[in-house]
This record gives sequence, C-alpha cells and structure tokens, in this order.
Amino acid sequence: MIRNPATVLIVGGGPSGLVLAISLLQNGVPVRIIEKSWAARLGQRGAGIMPRSLELFSHLRMVEPVLKRAINVPLVRKYKLPEGVEIAHEFAMSPILSPTPANPFLNPLLLGQDILETIFHDTLAKLGCTVEKGTELVSFTQTTDHVEVNLVKRGPDGENEEKEKTRYAWMVGTDGAKGSVRKQLGLSFLGETRTVENFVVGDICVEGLSSKYWHMWGDASEVLVSLRPTETKGLFNFIIAGRNINYGQIAASHDSVRECFRKHTGDRKDIKFGVMPWMSYYTPNIRMVDTFQKGRVLIGGDSGHVHSPTGGQGVNTGIQDSFNLGWKLALVAKGLAHPSLLKSYTQERLPVIAEMLNQTTELLDRTFSGTTIGEWQNGGNLFQLGVNYRWSSIVIDERKSVEAAKEAEEDALMEDFDFYDDDEKIDSYGTELDGRLRAGDRAPDASGLVKYGTSTPFLKTYPLFQIFAVTHHTALAFADFADCEEVLRELRRYPRDLVKSVVIVRRKKACPPGSNLADYVVEDYDGHAYEAYTSSVCGLVVVRPDGIVGGILRDATSLRKYFQNLLAGH
Ligand SMILES: Cc1cc2nc3c(=O)[nH]c(=O)nc-3n(C[C@H](O)[C@H](O)[C@H](O)COP(=O)(O)OP(=O)(O)OC[C@H]3O[C@@H](n4cnc5c(N)ncnc54)[C@H](O)[C@@H]3O)c2cc1C
Ligand SMILES: *[C@@H]1O[C@H](CO)[C@@H](O)[C@H](O)[C@H]1NC(C)=O
Repeated sequence: MIRNPATVLIVGGGPSGLVLAISLLQNGVPVRIIEKSWAARLGQRGAGIMPRSLELFSHLRMVEPVLKRAINVPLVRKYKLPEGVEIAHEFAMSPILSPTPANPFLNPLLLGQDILETIFHDTLAKLGCTVEKGTELVSFTQTTDHVEVNLVKRGPDGENEEKEKTRYAWMVGTDGAKGSVRKQLGLSFLGETRTVENFVVGDICVEGLSSKYWHMWGDASEVLVSLRPTETKGLFNFIIAGRNINYGQIAASHDSVRECFRKHTGDRKDIKFGVMPWMSYYTPNIRMVDTFQKGRVLIGGDSGHVHSPTGGQGVNTGIQDSFNLGWKLALVAKGLAHPSLLKSYTQERLPVIAEMLNQTTELLDRTFSGTTIGEWQNGGNLFQLGVNYRWSSIVIDERKSVEAAKEAEEDALMEDFDFYDDDEKIDSYGTELDGRLRAGDRAPDASGLVKYGTSTPFLKTYPLFQIFAVTHHTALAFADFADCEEVLRELRRYPRDLVKSVVIVRRKKACPPGSNLADYVVEDYDGHAYEAYTSSVCGLVVVRPDGIVGGILRDATSLRKYFQNLLAGH
C-alpha cells in the first residue's frame, strides 16, 4: 500500500476536476488529480463562457488569461435558401452590454474548451500540481474514515501497465457522463435519451466566410447548419442538426460532413470547407443523480448531470459545482468543519441542476421545432448570475425576519410569527428575482472603493471582487448600520485565514471605533457598496468563498450563530 500525501483524490481531468483541484490547492489542501486518457482533449465543445463563470475565474485569480484569449459572441447571419447567399436576417445572439458597478461581466464570451483547459492547467501548475495522465480509477471501497482506491497506470500506448492501491480521506468523481464513480456508487441517473434531436458538432477550417459573423442556414425543424467563428483565425465551430437528417451517415466521415455543408448551404462555390481537427456526434441525454455524495465519495460536473448542449450550460455548471464544493471540502479536510457540512453541496446544487435540465430541454425543443435559434437573446437566466441557494440550511437571512417582524408587530401578530419560516418557492435560477439581495444570492461587486485615509489627488479605486477569494469568507461591516467594534471583536475568535473583515465607510464619513481590528477599511467612494448591499435594517453581510451571500445579519451574536452553524455541522 502506497501512502500518497494527498488528502483528496480527484478522478477526471476535465473542467470540473481542474477547477476543484485549483480551489482545493488555493485553500492549502493537497490533491492528486488523475486522468485515464493520454490524448489531448480537443475541440471547441463547451465554448460559451457565461458571466457567472467569469466571476468565478475572477475569484480564482485566473480571469485575465481568459479575457485575453476569448472572443465576443458575434452577430448571427441567417441566409436565404436555396441560394444561401442573401441574408434573410441578422441578429445578436447576445447583445453586448456595458458592465455596471455591481456586474463587471455581463457578456458571455467564447473560447474553445481545449484552450480554456490549458489555462486551468497553467493555473494548476503555478500551484505545483499537474494532471497525472494515463492513470485510471478501476474500483474503490470506503470505510468511515477513508476511501481505498485501485488504480491502473499505463504509458501513452497502453504499455507498462502498473497497478496501485492507495488510501485517501476523500475522493471526488469528476469523471464525466460515462464515468464509473457514479455507477460504482450505485446512484440513480434518471431521465431520458433523445433519439431524434441529435447534433453533429465539430471544428472545421473554412475559407471564404467572414469571421465577423456567426453563419446559419436553415432551421432544425428541417436541417440547420451553423458555422461560428472561433478565437483561432480560419477555424469555425459547426453544428448540424435537424429532424430530417441521417446523423450516422453524415458523421461517418469528414467527407460526408463536408458534403452535407455544401448541400445545405446552397452549394456556394465561394466557400471552401477544409480540414476538421475535431468532430463528434452528440445524442442529448437528459439525466441527473439525486445526490452528489455517498460517504467519503462525491461527484460533480457531467458525472452528476447530462443535458442538451442548447444554452451552453455544461462546462459552466460543472465548474460551478466544483466551486460550491471546493471551499466546503477544504474546511472539512482541514478539520475546521464537521463532514456534515458537505450535505449542503447536494442540498444547494440539486435544485440548480434540475432547473438547468429544464431550461436546456425547453431550448432543445424550441430549436427542433424551428421557432428559435437565438437562444441567448433573452438568456438572462443562462448567464447564471441569478443562480441562488436561498433555501440552503447554511445561509442565514435576518433582513427578512427583521422586516417581517416589523410588519408582524404592526399587525400585532408577533406571538405566532415564525421568524425563519420560509415557504418561498425555490427559484434556483433566479428567474423572478425582485432585485433585493437575500442570503443565498450571488454577492454583487461594488466598484469605486478607496482604501480609507488615502485621499485625493491620486485616487486609486478598486472593486469589492478584489477582496473576495475562494480561500476565505469576507465579512462586510457597513459602518452606518453595524456595531463594527463588536463585530470585529467577534471575528477575532476565528482563525485569521478563515474570514477577512472589511469595514465599509460612506464617503467622507469618519472611521468607526474598532476599525483598527479590520483587515480592510474602505471608503465607499462612489456609494456602490451601500447601494448593492444595504437596506436600513442589517449592516452585516458575510460573503462565502464561492461568492455567495451566506449571511445578512444584525449583530455579532448572529455572526457567531452563522459560523457555529457552518463549522460545527448540524
Ligand atoms: C460534443 C460535445 C459538445 C458539447 N458542447 C457543449 C456546449 O456547446 N456548451 C457547453 O457548455 N457544454 C458542451 N459540452 C459539454 C461539456 O464539454 C461538458 O459539460 C464538460 O466537458 C464537462 O466537464 P467535466 O469535467 O464534468 O467532464 P469531462 O469533460 O467529461 O471530463 C471527464 C474526464 O474524466 C476522465 N475519466 C473518466 N473515467 C475515468 C477514470 N475511471 N479514471 C480516470 N479518469 C477518468 C475522462 O477521460 C475525461 O477526460 C459538449 C460536450 C460534448 C462531448
Ligand atoms: C420546465 O418546467 C415547467 C414549469 O414547471 C414545465 O411546465 C415544463 O414542462 C418543463 N419543461 C421541461 C422540458 O421539462
């Protein structure tokens, strides 16, 4: 038996596994990440990067290389058939929006999944870790205190097979839709397989088409051909989909794909279809598990949910799973929280996944009925900025109870009022958000902060997101409403790297007593932090390491309750 120093074994080197590894390593938890395949992971695949994912990259300090390489979503041009030359209409798949103080990223971007993964690999390498290729999980068993795994290692050509048996405190299966961790755990994977609504997808070099536009011919009620420019000059990502096509025949060879393009784009002599670095034939499966955990083994990403590619949620959802799990597993692995904290991973993510399946399936059905292809046009939800965990048992919202109590007082119904009763309907994608911040929501950004006491003429402002990180909670104490001194003294009871404190003072207002105990004291120079976070009743907001509001709280006692609930388990 080899004793590997890693605490967590991550099985599968796709985006979900990579983000989990980065998050755990940034939190100081040693990981080992294995990948059975040696082959480079090719292709554009899940190329749509949603705004919420860009925020996640910002919290992981890896957004710059993504922004540098990704491209905006181009205008779509649909052509009239049978000639295929004249433009029938032109529309924005995703109209370009300007960032706001609360939303630095409002536009989805496009970047091939292969390139995105190299950025994850670079980030991982800086943390001293690489994906161990050619290493496959074969089987595992678990006890109450460890997982024992049987691995097989092979060379790039399948040579030098070696067996290995090792123990880990935790294992996470991010081994994709066909992965074995879910199966070996015996988890259900209920749903459906679509036989008609298939896709042939891939990347192809095309000459004679402008790379400023996303080109489309036909629609999927018959045959849809889509050619979208990529970040690589001359390379287009394609989709062929339709009720009336023989997928097996088209996908049989590169030549038959090129033939299909010619046939369904009006046989234009000015377009030359060239080499295809990657292609695949995709049958939508719409399925999900009913739990992400059994004992010391967890799963995430495609291994826990598969769905239609319409709406571009796949990669985004997998990495959000990992982002949700990473900090919790880190606290547990470090012995700071009880393992029962991990239950909140399933509790928070399952309703999000269910809604994601619903939305992507609705889009699939609409696409194949030919009524829409402008899937992101009104895609506010698909941007994932509204995804929330308001029902979670580890978030606390006292604003709501204070407001409700006031109302109840007015109605003289105080005695039978249940403060924490929450019969609100779960709206996991936040389709009907009223704009009021609640615990469980995405924590908004606020630009225009200034380090307290560093005044003009060289005003240097920065955004709140610069303080958020996957390594710590951030407690925001708004000096107008919170007893900062009491709050900061309470925060001193916790390990220094568990929570960072920020005192937020209105422009030109005095610094409250106790501010010397804070990690940051900032002046809300442009007023955006007060605008985004406060109403008149609660001046204390705790932001979790995954950029979610964990607590909207009244005072130091509530703060203690929040961390007791989180750290002790329940
Ligand atoms: C053809 C195609 C088109 C797609 N289009 C889109 C799109 O337009 N938009 C979108 O958002 N998403 C799209 N997706 C989905 C997206 O690619 C996936 O959602 C994403 O890759 C999931 O990431 P993951 O890390 O969860 O799993 P994967 O990327 O599947 O990674 C799992 C990895 O685990 C490895 N593995 C499996 N078993 C073992 C084992 N026993 N031991 C070791 N390693 C193992 C596998 O080799 C694999 O590399 C598409 C996917 C495909 C296939
Ligand atoms: C999505 O949810 C709505 C509302 O619950 C429901 O009416 C609809 O049938 C669902 N769509 C799919 C494709 O599951």
